Amino acid sequence: MQSYQRQYLKEMGIEVWLDKNSSVAINETVVEEQVSAKSIATEVKVTPPVFPEALINLAKQVAACQQCVLHESRTQTVFGVGNPNADWLVIGEAPGADEDSQGEPFVGRAGKLLNSMLLAMGLPREQVFIANILKCRPPNNRDPQAEEVLACETYLRQQIDLIKPKIILAVGRIAAQNLLKLETPIGKMRGNRYQYPDSELPVIVTYHPAYLLRSPREKRKVWEDLKLAMQTYKAIV
Ligand code: URA
Repeated sequence: MQSYQRQYLKEMGIEVWLDKNSSVAINETVVEEQVSAKSIATEVKVTPPVFPEALINLAKQVAACQQCVLHESRTQTVFGVGNPNADWLVIGEAPGADEDSQGEPFVGRAGKLLNSMLLAMGLPREQVFIANILKCRPPNNRDPQAEEVLACETYLRQQIDLIKPKIILAVGRIAAQNLLKLETPIGKMRGNRYQYPDSELPVIVTYHPAYLLRSPREKRKVWEDLKLAMQTYKAIV
């Protein structure tokens, strides 16, 4: 395991135990396989993504959306960010105050932790695509309402159709339940491989980084989820 990677795991609150004799991390080999020299290089040299026209048009449509009440209180829509050809699509709940003001998902404290989660898997933020169930901030960060999710669903489905990811990582209960149309508690969803409805696209569920900030002891479980996601990804590429 690379030292920079141990650092990200440490930021996630995960101590990796090393075998003193071999200096090989115990039980963490899957990560090593995932991290390539290429991903490290991407971390240093970031090329701004060029969105294809269809994705730009969709983003314009989202920016003008007035399908639900949230358009009245938003500062701006938060379409999503990252590599338009990403294999990995990360889906969260909805923009918060920071995201509403900056127009980019996961830019606050939870976003920093999400970046560490991704880097622990060898994935710089720029290499994945990050979006939310809702493109507008619910006032006072309340839970999304059913009609808001429904209104936004068509945008997310179009994003998935255009980006064509190979795997979805759903972070948090709201993302997982709405994506998969299930009411199962998130604790029971973790550890399973799901498929995005009407497709074979695998979905792995994990806790939301904002929850981890409140409950840091759960970070180890998230690392288990991320390993499952990496194994799932590896099996399909
Ligand atoms: N939480 C989310 O689910 N999404 C964001 O973009 C920010 C915080």
